[in-house]
Amino acid sequence: MTGAVTVAGMCGIIGYVGHTESTRPLSVVMEALSRLQYRGYDSAGVVVVNQSGLHHVKKAGKLAALEAELAARPLPAASSAVGHTRWATHGGPTDANAHPHLSPDGAVAVVHNGIIENHDLLRQELLNAGAVFSSQTDTEVAAHLLARAYHQTGDLPDAMCLVAQRLEGAFTLLAVATGQPHLVVGARRTSPLVVGLGEGENFLGSDVAAFVAQTNRALELGQDQVVTITPDSVSVTDFAGQPVEAKHFTVDWDASAAVKGGFATFMEKEIHDQPDAVRDTLLGRTGPQGHLKLDELRVSESLLRSIDKIIVVACGTAAYAGHVAKYAIEHWCRIPTEVELAHEFRYRDAIVTEKTLIVAISQSGETMDTIQAVRHAREQGAKVIAVVNTMGSTIARESDAALYTHAGPEVAVASTKAFLAQITATYLLGLYLAQLRGTMFADEVRAVLSELDQTPAKIQTVIESEDGIKALASAMKETKSVLFLGRHVGFPVAMEGALKLKELAYIHAEGFAAGELKHGPIALIDQGQPVFVVVPSPRGRDALHDKILSNIEEVRARGAVTLVVAEEGDIAVTEFAERVLWVPQTPTLLAPLVAVVPLQIFACALASAKGLDVDQPRNLAKSVTVE
Ligand code: G6P
Repeated sequence: MTGAVTVAGMCGIIGYVGHTESTRPLSVVMEALSRLQYRGYDSAGVVVVNQSGLHHVKKAGKLAALEAELAARPLPAASSAVGHTRWATHGGPTDANAHPHLSPDGAVAVVHNGIIENHDLLRQELLNAGAVFSSQTDTEVAAHLLARAYHQTGDLPDAMCLVAQRLEGAFTLLAVATGQPHLVVGARRTSPLVVGLGEGENFLGSDVAAFVAQTNRALELGQDQVVTITPDSVSVTDFAGQPVEAKHFTVDWDASAAVKGGFATFMEKEIHDQPDAVRDTLLGRTGPQGHLKLDELRVSESLLRSIDKIIVVACGTAAYAGHVAKYAIEHWCRIPTEVELAHEFRYRDAIVTEKTLIVAISQSGETMDTIQAVRHAREQGAKVIAVVNTMGSTIARESDAALYTHAGPEVAVASTKAFLAQITATYLLGLYLAQLRGTMFADEVRAVLSELDQTPAKIQTVIESEDGIKALASAMKETKSVLFLGRHVGFPVAMEGALKLKELAYIHAEGFAAGELKHGPIALIDQGQPVFVVVPSPRGRDALHDKILSNIEEVRARGAVTLVVAEEGDIAVTEFAERVLWVPQTPTLLAPLVAVVPLQIFACALASAKGLDVDQPRNLAKSVTVE
């Protein structure tokens, strides 16, 4: 049976409750789903509750399919509503498998994010008791159990506690019930859930983006908690029903940041947001004397002085930010720094002690592998600093300290502005440690900070040159493979450039350390093979620049078409390049902030030229909340 059962993977969830029956619950939920689609877009569904009971619609496909269905079959006015957008982990994204799932008698409706690991056992138990299932999901098991518990207790929160105790695995569940139209109940274990506080209405969301257009007041929930929202109250308990305190926080995202703002896609908009993402991440972190202050780092200074190793853990683009951080932190702080994919870190016997500092980087703060890496490290006594973009997220909550990036809501699935903000935040962390540990003089720290302050304007300059990059991308839309080369911090930039192209344009792309070329990758070079080369500043003190020019010659001699990202004024590169994409002069360690931008624009433009959906690439989800 297991193979046939589909489980809810990384999904977007929203719940709403208000006083009066109106169209507001449905419109709030639909608006939230449009914002949450980055969490999954295989199917979507809504359920509304009024005095007459539950009314639902669900549909396979993107949100537009649900919208069309709702236009054909409007739902009645209601006082509460729950919505779901799904990224299936196993099995087909069909109408039947879409959420919400109702119990057979229609008494309760459930939406779910996560994986109920003991669903097989529970399903068998229910089948033995005569239950009939109408989907292949693990979620439907929870709907059956909840209905039974609801009939037994007569109260949805009590019923949810009973059910949550029986479930294994990771889950966020939201439920509504016939007969309780002014109440939505949620339960969470490991999967994300936050509460939004309104006036005479309240919200539940899988992240704050769900309700940021409605309120910026929010509550964090802990592990194994059940939350009940009514129009005027929020109560939180553990799974045994004992009340617990939840922590208030304010979401400092501007709701308007989560709309396209005149751009055709979120991806383009977020690329254009990047100067602000870097500026806002730097903002307020320097004292009057140019002294760096990171007030939020609630890890004692003596401990930060004593650490003897840093391990950066992250996944995807965030891991490339970690690679850049390694170069900067080791150079400035002289602390050995490793970067490891979170899923690799936790399943090997990494050496982690009380003197190890873990830096967990995550836009969403919900990437399951990164969460598990954080837990694993803390169990071994290490301190964890999270570099996170999403307030109230699990990684922020479970780490010893959170250093927030201020990129604002990132909606496009492939990360752009969060990447730049992550790099910026890790530079700040490196400089702070250098200041604290005395490996840099105050004026050296100030000099780097002043260079950092100039990067938003430089990023803007690159963005303003986008027309030429877009034309290049359009001309290359039939390309089947693109290679990217870089050295030093240009290496992670090359890998990120390749990742963007894979994710957005479905083109084979690989990033290599240019020095590795002759150890294999050069065999890929054939007549006409496009190769991007990220050239470091010629003003650097070392021989990096000249080394990479030799690498360009080597690939050109074998027929490669070289597309070179180089610093303005570096005329030496022109004779090596079919095409130069100029970026403003920037010190080597900070150069990734500008050098990656033409590669992002290129990938986005090439995918658009191919007619692809750059905001929601196939098979991906923004927030990978299952392992
Ligand atoms: C997914 C996204 C990537 C992102 C990665 C890590 O794969 O598509 O854009 O870099 O997750 O996400 P996080 O939220 O932890 O930064």
